Amino acid sequence: MSTTVIAALAADPSPLTRTITVDGAGLTVRALLPGDGSALVAFLAGLSSTSRRFWHGDTSHEAAAADWIEAIGRYDKVRLVAVDGEDLAGVVDLSLSLPEGFEITRYAAHGIHLDEERTARFGPCVADAWQGRGLADALIPPAWDAIRLLGRDVVVLFGGVHEDNARARRFYRRHGFTEVGAVDMWRHL
Ligand SMILES: CC(C)(COP(=O)(O)OP(=O)(O)OC[C@H]1O[C@@H](n2cnc3c(N)ncnc32)[C@H](O)[C@@H]1OP(=O)(O)O)[C@@H](O)C(=O)NCCC(=O)NCCS
Repeated sequence: MSTTVIAALAADPSPLTRTITVDGAGLTVRALLPGDGSALVAFLAGLSSTSRRFWHGDTSHEAAAADWIEAIGRYDKVRLVAVDGEDLAGVVDLSLSLPEGFEITRYAAHGIHLDEERTARFGPCVADAWQGRGLADALIPPAWDAIRLLGRDVVVLFGGVHEDNARARRFYRRHGFTEVGAVDMWRHL
């Protein structure tokens, strides 16, 4: 069912498109598109070492971007991007799968069974130049709309959150997330 919705959104991504205003600037939030490869490489290459450590680690930018583009409309992922002219100001990584050994296993260790039919994994990342200006806040409504459109209503952090990522923890708490153990936070929509 979810894979059908993901394929349909790749064919017609317009249901995911929104306009947002952040710090006085108009940005478009939309699904990642096949033509976004070089903008995505530039976004990843532009992240500071701190942002990269908190987010997707050290894989090659080109390989990571190629993976994301190749996955459009397939598998379990939907990626949203916030577009500022030619540049990506932020991305939201959404996944509908719960592979063993990751979130589902960590939550089980805390006595929580994640329902595979209801849960979405959520991972936002904002370009350093845009951090602290309200972009992540503005990405929440489009992200929750996308998750609801995908038929999910439980949101867990994709990969968890580092214990020393104070800004991200404040952001998640502000948006109704609560802690589950040391690195996980979740909320119900
Ligand atoms: C965590 C992250 C997504 C938050 O993004 P952000 O755009 O900086 O976050 P917000 O939009 O919530 O804004 C954060 C700050 O801007 C401030 N702010 C300034 N102007 C604002 C405005 N107009 N509207 C809202 N907040 C504003 C907020 O008060 C907040 O302050 P605080 O950090 O002292 O609490 C971002 O810092 C990031 O991508 N970090 C690197 C990767 C990462 O950690 N990802 C999460 C992995 S779990």
